[in-house]
Amino acid sequence: MINQNNRGRKVFLILLGIFFFCVNTYANEEIRRERPGKLFSPSKIPLLEDPKRDTWQKPEEILNVLGIGKGQAVADIGAGSGYLAVKLSERVGAAGVVYAVDVQQEMLDYISKRLGTEGLKNVILVLGNMDDPKLSPSSLDIAILLSTYHEIAEPIDFMKKIKSALKPHGRLAILEFSDESPIGPPLKVRLPEDLVINELKQAGFALSQKYNFLLPYQYLLVFTPSSQ
Ligand SMILES: C[S@@+](CC[C@H](N)C(=O)[O-])C[C@H]1O[C@@H](n2cnc3c(N)ncnc32)[C@H](O)[C@@H]1O
Repeated sequence: MINQNNRGRKVFLILLGIFFFCVNTYANEEIRRERPGKLFSPSKIPLLEDPKRDTWQKPEEILNVLGIGKGQAVADIGAGSGYLAVKLSERVGAAGVVYAVDVQQEMLDYISKRLGTEGLKNVILVLGNMDDPKLSPSSLDIAILLSTYHEIAEPIDFMKKIKSALKPHGRLAILEFSDESPIGPPLKVRLPEDLVINELKQAGFALSQKYNFLLPYQYLLVFTPSSQ
């Protein structure tokens, strides 16, 4: 009887230990996230333009699963050096339009030179504000944020503005580095996908697709405007 009581107490203490370990780990997880991440410096453009990037970024696969095609109006929010904007430009063709939005004029200047050299005429450069992408209402088939969401200072308000820039059947795609990725921004600014999904819900979006294995280092979330 005494032995049974001791065993029961031991099991209880072990379970209690596991419980506190889990609570503590979860708390640390919350603490180590920093919002927002620092703006990506234009001095690091060579990292965005690394010729090896295509091997893990797989831009064609991204555009394929998103169904980007001729004639669409798309926005590359946080366009940086224009890595994605240039690929989008080719995809949507002369009948389509790409809005390359960034808050740093130096990034837009870099893209502008590139558009001249490559003769691309369907890309419109937009200097946004930290809290406003400065896009016209109901103008987009899709908005894409590639490694940008974690830099947005007030994501919920910002994404509400993206929502009003989408056409009624427009979509939103967000790609961010996973915690497990060996490359990408510091771990403390990477965002767990559940947190992003929850914020997007508050901004008036519903998750429509989730791709965890399309890319080796990033997850891709696709949203549609929710009805309310
Ligand atoms: C890490 S870079 C990624 C650039 C590009 N999407 C790529 O993957 O090559 C993030 C970019 O987002 C821009 N950015 C940050 N906050 C923004 C905002 N609120 N609106 C528009 N651009 C923003 C930064 O200036 C920077 O150029």
